Amino acid sequence: MTNSTAQALIWTGNSLDVLDQRQLPEITRYDSYTDAEGVAEAIKSMRVRGAPAIGIAAAYGVVLSVQQHFSDSVNWHNSVFADIETLAQSRPTAVNLFWALDKMKAVLAQTHENIVDAVTECAVTIHADDLAANQKMGDFGATLLVGTKGVMTHCNTGSLATGGYGTALGVIRSAVAQNQHLKIFAGETRPWLQGARLTVWELAQDGISSTLIADSAAAWLMKSGAIDWVIVGADRIAANGDTANKIGTYSLATLAKQHGVKFMVVAPTSTIDWSLENGDNIQIECREPRELLPACYDVPNSLVSAWNPVFDVTPAALISAIVTENGIVLNPSEHANGIRSLQK
Ligand code: MRU
Repeated sequence: MTNSTAQALIWTGNSLDVLDQRQLPEITRYDSYTDAEGVAEAIKSMRVRGAPAIGIAAAYGVVLSVQQHFSDSVNWHNSVFADIETLAQSRPTAVNLFWALDKMKAVLAQTHENIVDAVTECAVTIHADDLAANQKMGDFGATLLVGTKGVMTHCNTGSLATGGYGTALGVIRSAVAQNQHLKIFAGETRPWLQGARLTVWELAQDGISSTLIADSAAAWLMKSGAIDWVIVGADRIAANGDTANKIGTYSLATLAKQHGVKFMVVAPTSTIDWSLENGDNIQIECREPRELLPACYDVPNSLVSAWNPVFDVTPAALISAIVTENGIVLNPSEHANGIRSLQK
């Protein structure tokens, strides 16, 4: 197994150091946060991204809140719950955020002594468990890649987006570590360019070569026969396997079907929202038009606006495999129970 060098989040015991991913690949800079509000802002402003990494950051945000507010009086609870609400409002689509906050809330509800230690232990465990899940998924997913010549990935799903190693990128890392000679293509991932600025950078940091393509080159790449699999992560997966992920994922899955390319989703079970039967009710984050618009149109009474959804939902019927730390479900739409076999 190759190690991954990039680290999005460093917990120091009394602060969370967050790698400002907006500055990569030119600048590697960590900002230090000592309160939950700061962590919520780091999530909202895309300093930290990727569903599992967002959940882990939020968990540490709760620890910082408890460290700041805990006292013998009952009122500290109100301050911590206000901070939890602020963290919950930071981004809507990745369910890992709400999953992690629910875990922290459960610890707060059940613990009556040594509260700071108890919440710290929970956050550190969420972080460590995610890394372990990624390493398992890497090994599971790599078994599907035997004999594969080339893969394409979308967005960033590596160490920076997770507790370490990565989901989809973890599968690619594991396959490379097993000496599978894979050609790796990464889509740019407009508008935030996670593929161009993060994925290929992460791979290069670990000595793995990759080829960047414009998002709009994907169909032509598939037509060329260079890839056998598209491999992506997820921000929220419904119980039937419908998968919300970075905008453009649905296009890739549709193109993959057209070209006979297989489509793999890799995510820890913390990304599965068992309360949703299907993907129809997944809230899709729509970000500011100015993230897309050339500045000259971002003016009052402009005739040009922009629609900027940053995720989409891929129907389970377009997915060949969903890989989690609990195992693999092939062709999820063909199972009456969807992906419920992964629920442990
Ligand atoms: O907007 P982002 O950068 O947070 O979106 C990230 C993604 O969509 C990833 O593909 C997803 O979180 C899976 S990461 C392991």
